[in-house]
Amino acid sequence: MKNFTCVHDVTNIDSLIETALAAKKHPLAHNHVGKGKTIGLVFMNPSLRTRLSTQRAAQNLGMNVISVNVSADGWALEFQDGVVMNGGKSEHIKDAAAMLGLYCDVVAVRCFPSLSNREQDYSELILNQFVRYAGVPVVSMESATRHPLQSLADLITIESFKNTSKPKIVLTWAPHVKPLPQAVANSFAEWVLSSGYQLTIAHPPGYALCSHFAPGATIVSNQQEAIDTADFVYVKNWSSYEHYGEIPAVSGDWMLTTDRLNAAGNPYVMHCLPVRRGVEIADSVIDSPQSLVLQQATNRIYAAQAVLQTILI
Ligand code: CP
Repeated sequence: MKNFTCVHDVTNIDSLIETALAAKKHPLAHNHVGKGKTIGLVFMNPSLRTRLSTQRAAQNLGMNVISVNVSADGWALEFQDGVVMNGGKSEHIKDAAAMLGLYCDVVAVRCFPSLSNREQDYSELILNQFVRYAGVPVVSMESATRHPLQSLADLITIESFKNTSKPKIVLTWAPHVKPLPQAVANSFAEWVLSSGYQLTIAHPPGYALCSHFAPGATIVSNQQEAIDTADFVYVKNWSSYEHYGEIPAVSGDWMLTTDRLNAAGNPYVMHCLPVRRGVEIADSVIDSPQSLVLQQATNRIYAAQAVLQTILI
């Protein structure tokens, strides 16, 4: 694996999950693999889990870690090629990424979408420019349209808790107070479907995901109907893809509650975190034994470790 930007970079998902589960059992078993190597963690947006889990994963493999918050500590970057840089952008990605590639053996990048320019966001301009100019492997720590380290951790979690080979998996939209990217939802759909599972997606009118990410998924507009008999319910907000970045008005209550969960037969509940308690999911659900949110967060370490190990070997 040269880069890790989406599920299509992975040759064998099952094998990557096995590597992650082995790393979880023996985290330091391969701590020689990254000896003398450095990973650069480049953040253009905030992070708690991704920052710490990727750092922990790299350290478990014996790597040195350099972390930079580009938006706060770096020069404003220009990502378009061929522009005359006489505006507010001080450094071109061509120079910045090449420099990172000289200092680091792997570059990991977090770059959220603008949510204002759909064409540019969905072209993955920023991530692709890092891939193009870094000259070393690039790992996505969430890009404009995908969050593959999160999705791998989610699949590791499902693998660990499933009671049947083909569990019923549901992705449901939930309310939020501000427009969020579609990346986690896109990516979860893509990984679940690429793993051979069936997926039901529940969302209100106006919130259909880009069809590219969920070919063959069952789409419904009734949350209770979707989660009935589900084994895993993945809760996530996203803004509109059709009315790009907007948050069209929604009728009915889409917050996942204990009543709704009980009526569905108590499936496991997943969320990538951070979660808005009392908005996306009721406190009583997140704090219940059915909640897998901390297991998902734990598995972020071993997802990143499996990816870095595969790249380094
Ligand atoms: N789930 C996730 O990516 O969390 P952070 O935004 O805190 O990294």
